[in-house]
Amino acid sequence: MSPEALKAQILELTREYSRLTHAAQRPGADAARPAFRPGQDVVPYAGRVFNEDEVEAAVSSTLDFWLTLGNEGHAMQEELAELLGVKKTLLVNSGSSANLIAVSTLTTHKLPAEKRLLPGDEVITCAAGFPTTVAPILQNGAVPVFIDNDPVTGNACADQLEGAYNPGKTKAVMFAHTLGNPFELRTVLAFCHKHGLWLIEDNCDALGCTYSLPLEEARELGLTHLIKIAEKGDHPWIRIEDGVLTAPTGSFGDISTQSFYPPHHLTMGEGGAVNIIRRPPLGTYAESFRDWGRDCWCPSGKDNTCNKRFGWQLGELPEGYDHKYIYSHLGYNLKPLDPQAAIGRMQIRKLPDFVEARKRNWNVLRAGLAGLENCFEFALPTHATGWSADGFTWDDSGCRTDCSWFGFMLLVKPDAPFAKADFARYLDEKKIGNRMLFGGNLARQPAFVQLRKERPEALRIVGDLPGADRIMNEAIFIGTYPGLSDAQLDYMIESIQAFCAR
Ligand SMILES: Cc1ncc(COP(=O)(O)O)c(C=O)c1O
Repeated sequence: MSPEALKAQILELTREYSRLTHAAQRPGADAARPAFRPGQDVVPYAGRVFNEDEVEAAVSSTLDFWLTLGNEGHAMQEELAELLGVKKTLLVNSGSSANLIAVSTLTTHKLPAEKRLLPGDEVITCAAGFPTTVAPILQNGAVPVFIDNDPVTGNACADQLEGAYNPGKTKAVMFAHTLGNPFELRTVLAFCHKHGLWLIEDNCDALGCTYSLPLEEARELGLTHLIKIAEKGDHPWIRIEDGVLTAPTGSFGDISTQSFYPPHHLTMGEGGAVNIIRRPPLGTYAESFRDWGRDCWCPSGKDNTCNKRFGWQLGELPEGYDHKYIYSHLGYNLKPLDPQAAIGRMQIRKLPDFVEARKRNWNVLRAGLAGLENCFEFALPTHATGWSADGFTWDDSGCRTDCSWFGFMLLVKPDAPFAKADFARYLDEKKIGNRMLFGGNLARQPAFVQLRKERPEALRIVGDLPGADRIMNEAIFIGTYPGLSDAQLDYMIESIQAFCAR
């Protein structure tokens, strides 16, 4: 039998094996899933959603045995860049690595002195969220400046930006779009524009969210890269309608990041991406930090892409020293494997359905839990002022968000007839997966408390952070991921209703 025929046979068997063994990981609405047994089966807060397509892709790529980032990786980078409308995407081995590269990129000596992030410079971030949005700032010797979070959206309080600004020291702003809810991009962009600051969007939890703002404001904010794409009229997520520009989160700032760890909007096992939104040179620096710090940009398995491999003289190296081994940065090796990218590419094809399922599941939960406002304060999309069965009401900013929800967040009210811990324990008993908003108020985490004790100048806190404390004390989230079936959503709603009725 030829190797091709043998491979085809292996892949056919792989698909059959996957159908037999992984039925529970199929999308929530898939008829081939095993029936949900309320109270016996766990309702995960998130997880991998896949079928035989992903397993076949992984096995096929593994049989080819290229292993390191190759054709699949390069294709996935291009597909993601296209989807987000960004100049370049680099795959990495995690969202945390993506954040590390994003911040490191701003430290390069190749940037003009006034734009370069130097030790002791400040990066404005917010207190509540995931630790590796903040850690790379410290790991690069810069100072994170914590502003507060709005407990209802989970996002940074953009009205505190001016108060946090430190002329000559502030170089960048870095926030996550919390739990798939875009932060207030218009205000944040205007602030960065006014002071000439970099904006890093941690889009790890928010792939598929869109943000809309008046076109004239988008022009004033210099969003020409998005306007040009929208004007072509054929992009699934970037468009102009009635004088309003809509585009995906992760495409507005300078650099953005993704995580493809299993609970996220798509998965490649471990994995992530750095998106270079509009300035191509940042892509060269980011790639250098990802790939050992080297100056050379040849992909794995290729030599002499620059056509002068032995024609460079850099640093104090002799003329003609092999460009492959010239290092312009103190870098890392944070690349993923090609079989992971093969899985990721299959997942990208399913992303529109995944995003729709997340929105739908959030709405089902919100409608099902309506009437429990005496116990809970429910999360709202940024710019929304309220929710009813007819939809959201919005503020008069002219901006809108369309959330690709990572989870369904609610705050247990301080005067509710139960404490948050009781509620979390009850959900656990009912086997309903639940999570805190990650690290809560990060400033209160042991790592940051220790840092403040040892080096108080290592970080700066603006105000008392009451919103981040409320998130820490009151917030909890349950799943919205595409693997949830109607039966599971009903069970979640009935269980929570029953708890509140006790
Ligand atoms: C906002 C945010 N940023 C970064 C990360 C880190 O991603 P990873 O787990 O892929 O390192 C996470 C993890 O969930 C996250 O929630």
